[in-house]
Amino acid sequence: MNKGFKKNFLWGGATAANQCEGAWNLGGKGESTADHFTSGSKTSPRRFTKQIEPGTYYPSHEAIDFYHRYKEDIALFAEMGFKVFRMSIAWTRIFPNGDDREPNQEGLAFYRSVFEECRKYDIEPLVTLSHYEMPYHLCVEYDGWASRKTIDFFLSYCKTVFTKYRSLVKYWLTFNEINILTHSFGGLMGGGILSGAPEKLDIANPFKETAEQKNKRWVALHHQFVASAKAVKLAHQIDAENKVGCMIAGMGSYPLTPNPDDMLAAQRSAMIGTYLCGDVMVRGQYPYFSKRYFDEQGVRIELADGDAETLKDGCVDFYSFSYYTTGCISTDPEALKAAGNMIWGVSNPYLKASEWGWQIDPKGLRYFLNEYYGRYGIPMMVVENGLGAADTVESDGQIHDPYRITYLRAHIEQMREAIEDGVDLIGYTPWGCIDLVSASTGEMHKRYGIIYVDKDNEGNGTLARSRKDSFYWYKKVIASNGADLE
Ligand code: BG6
Repeated sequence: MNKGFKKNFLWGGATAANQCEGAWNLGGKGESTADHFTSGSKTSPRRFTKQIEPGTYYPSHEAIDFYHRYKEDIALFAEMGFKVFRMSIAWTRIFPNGDDREPNQEGLAFYRSVFEECRKYDIEPLVTLSHYEMPYHLCVEYDGWASRKTIDFFLSYCKTVFTKYRSLVKYWLTFNEINILTHSFGGLMGGGILSGAPEKLDIANPFKETAEQKNKRWVALHHQFVASAKAVKLAHQIDAENKVGCMIAGMGSYPLTPNPDDMLAAQRSAMIGTYLCGDVMVRGQYPYFSKRYFDEQGVRIELADGDAETLKDGCVDFYSFSYYTTGCISTDPEALKAAGNMIWGVSNPYLKASEWGWQIDPKGLRYFLNEYYGRYGIPMMVVENGLGAADTVESDGQIHDPYRITYLRAHIEQMREAIEDGVDLIGYTPWGCIDLVSASTGEMHKRYGIIYVDKDNEGNGTLARSRKDSFYWYKKVIASNGADLE
């Protein structure tokens, strides 16, 4: 019988460059897609502007200024006992335009210094190569991942960082939540497809794409699969110690009722939205059900010579995913009407939701860990999980966030159950271990951090860091290797 978390379990936290670094135009960095998203809110979607508008607030431009404060932040992670720190490299710091011949030395030096700082505390960096951003120049010139040429640009970037950080980084993820490209709103955010892109990031009301745009989105996903597989192979060639994972948005969906129509619809949603990407990246080929789906959707993906072998040769070493919430799938028009256009389907009457309407479902984490592990049988990592909530700073400076502790505790308990079930879970990096910019809304107010950052939605604040109650709690959890969750 398994007894809880293994000895070398990777406890830590997760961030992404465009949501925390800032310094968007310093150190030779080029403009990325993320730099073109304005702020938004729960009710008003972020805008994407093709030009940077003077006087408009773009949260990524300063974010939480990790670029200048990483030493302080990593010291706080070390104080909590982090074994791993998930972060991403901004491609634009290394190749500002994406198609440059030579890398930007200042960008390379910055990440070297960040990784060295992690190593100083025995923190293992876990590095995402592409987290919802890419060089804007590639979008303008090539329509992002819709172009096959982008594969080579990406590989040149990968080769550079795999080589330069050979002894510093061992764990890599290729594309963050790659399966966002199975949804119409993912074309720009995940694929950098500029042509026909909507002006708003309206996740609740996905825009109606044309047949051509839909096709482009799936072709872009295919290009990312090929790029990812080639990157896996390259990482192994450069250092046999490298471990590369896929990163899938764990969009769990249950059937709303046992009506066979709901059952089939929920299964189909999982097949297309979640399994398709995992199957290609773990098993090295498109799953059996993709052909019918593509035919029915009018999607045509031409595999170039060698693509099938490339996918087979570049299977990932571990399966990582984000997990926040679940929803229900229904085929009942009345239930759908009541749900509006929730991305996760219809709400589950057995669950409560966060302030931002994300339903909280810790047991679903155990369920999906078993689902994915049962399907793939390779080591698993939960690389995002957490509660976005508003926090209050008391007059004495303390931040009491019992709701966050409750959320994290319940999910860790379920991870422990999954391990007891036999799942090979190797790590856990809750999202936004430090408050950062929300990806969907651009807010600061939607806080995930166990470290508080003094900054508001309009960009005001000292950027000072402070420890929330959850900081001390998580420190205890790590010190006890998940045994003490009180
Ligand atoms: C994941 C993304 O989808 O969810 C992160 O990988 C994101 O970038 C996180 O920040 C939480 O979502 P949000 O919209 O609340 O920031």
